[in-house]
Amino acid sequence: MPDTPLTEILRDFRAYRPGNHREFLEWVKSAADESRVQHFALQDAESAALYLRAMNQVRDFRWRHWCFTREYILKKTRHPTATGGSPIVTWLPNQLRAVLDLMDSVRQQFDGRLRGCDDIIEIVERQRETLQKEVKKYCEGRQAEIA
Ligand code: HEM
Repeated sequence: MPDTPLTEILRDFRAYRPGNHREFLEWVKSAADESRVQHFALQDAESAALYLRAMNQVRDFRWRHWCFTREYILKKTRHPTATGGSPIVTWLPNQLRAVLDLMDSVRQQFDGRLRGCDDIIEIVERQRETLQKEVKKYCEGRQAEIA
């Protein structure tokens, strides 16, 4: 995750989640740190492709979630903040962009060697561009800034 004030809001929101969910997230983080899962996965193209597929699940959720927000909130109101108080246009894209950027950096590192990932790579490229345009469009006229 990028180290920005928007990411700080994400950390703060975790405090409002149910205890067992919080414990699960903390466990995932410490298990990933302990096993150095990212370092391990990026040692060869086969495991990097599996790593990319795992991240694709997160991207898929975050993209769909952004589409809900666009359709049900952004198109209906110009209010600059969501119910939880986060900046409505930039906060969810901050998280979505983090996963898209990481996926793109894996693609660059293993250029052409990630077997069976062409469809994923194409989606990442397309969504990065679309997201940038959408954030710019919905920022206009709202008291939000492009992060
Ligand atoms: C119409 C459906 C939905 C809309 C319009 C929506 C909208 C939003 C908005 C605007 C936020 C920003 C937080 C705030 O300041 O209020 C948020 C956060 C969040 N929502 Fe939803 N949401 C929807 C459905 C869901 C569903 C079905 C899930 C889970 C299954 C979900 C999980 C989350 C999570 C985990 C966050 C924190 C963001 C993050 O971790 O990146 N949302 N949602």
